Amino acid sequence: MSSNHQNVSIKGQSTDFPLSFEEWEKKASSLMQEGGYSYARSSAGREETARRNVEAFGKWAIVPRMLSNVSDMDLSVTLFGRTYGHPFLIAPVGVQKLAHPEGELATARAAAAMNIPFILSTVASHSIEEVAAAAPDGSKWFQLYWSSNEDISFSMVERAEKAGYEAIVVTVDTIMPGFREGDIRNQFSPISKGLGKANYINDPVFMKALPNHDEASIVASLLENMYTPALHWKHIAKLKEKTKLPVLLKGILHPEDALTALEYGVDGIIVSNHGGRQLDGTIATIDALPAIAEAVQKRMPILLDSGIRRGTDAVKALALGADSVLIGRPFLYGLASNGQQGVEKVLERLFQETELTLALSGIPDLSQMGRLKMVRD
Ligand code: FNR
Ligand code: LAC
Repeated sequence: MSSNHQNVSIKGQSTDFPLSFEEWEKKASSLMQEGGYSYARSSAGREETARRNVEAFGKWAIVPRMLSNVSDMDLSVTLFGRTYGHPFLIAPVGVQKLAHPEGELATARAAAAMNIPFILSTVASHSIEEVAAAAPDGSKWFQLYWSSNEDISFSMVERAEKAGYEAIVVTVDTIMPGFREGDIRNQFSPISKGLGKANYINDPVFMKALPNHDEASIVASLLENMYTPALHWKHIAKLKEKTKLPVLLKGILHPEDALTALEYGVDGIIVSNHGGRQLDGTIATIDALPAIAEAVQKRMPILLDSGIRRGTDAVKALALGADSVLIGRPFLYGLASNGQQGVEKVLERLFQETELTLALSGIPDLSQMGRLKMVRD
């Protein structure tokens, strides 16, 4: 896909929607209820990881290339046999009704319109099947929170396969919730409020195992199933046997874990620290990436999230070895601001800045990323 000069010029950028992440966040904060906004914004502990994620991007610098003929830009990327217009994905974010009444339905439609994958969370406020009906042609992946009753996990994966989802993303950094002081202070847990139950109440295995079908029992059982300290590589091996879909692990930060993933036949990894919401004090994802890319040697796709706020951040991740990046809070704030259109606007901004950054760096298409040198302060 090539784009014209207009797309990379200032003239192509309207000002009818805020331009920067900081402005999207401000707008969302004025529109969302306090508890919901605080849940979305905040991270674990001292929020050291969340801060480091963003600051670390500022420590990496691009050494651009000149005289490279960037008149025909192509930002397309192919993942698991499907080609997308831009190297971005919508990260799995639970309970999106907190941001907008149409929640995941609006986000999935925006992702389809912008030709990037949408990853549906296990704790979504709309079910696997509802989202598939809302965006039938868009690329959809399903994020799995392993259930302590593993038959529920396999049942959800089967439902995702039937509904046309194209990959399974197992989040491995959330075997129990992180220490989120903001939520404790506000006594706010959208999952305890029952806002993330759509995939559970539509699951025959979950419902069959329920002692009582009242709201309190549903929420208690959901929370019990999400608590999975025993999660281990052997569960991944079992999942690989059960599904033909590509399996990705989300939350990898150590190169040895990336290598073990390869041994277990995992199809891709997402370098992530959950946007700083789980373990506080971790390495920034952009700092974790080079050693992981070195270990993996292109044997499987590497995706990255946590702290992507601008097109320049995306380009830095691509230059350091990521095949594509996920965004969490940026799209969520767009959703809060103006539903589907808000998500599309956020994506448009990020796409434009990414394209402009690549053009000015002398990289007309992603196969040439290797020509960019990166240095760290
Ligand atoms: C998340 N994230 C997340 N991850 C996941 O695997 N399943 C989930 O249900 C959720 N839920 C969720 C809710 C909210 C409100 C946020 C902000 C995040 C983490 C998400 O997928 C992603 O890793 C981070 O959001 C990426 O960091 P940024 O882009 O928000 O900095
Ligand atoms: C979160 C959980 C839902 O980050 O993953 O809030």
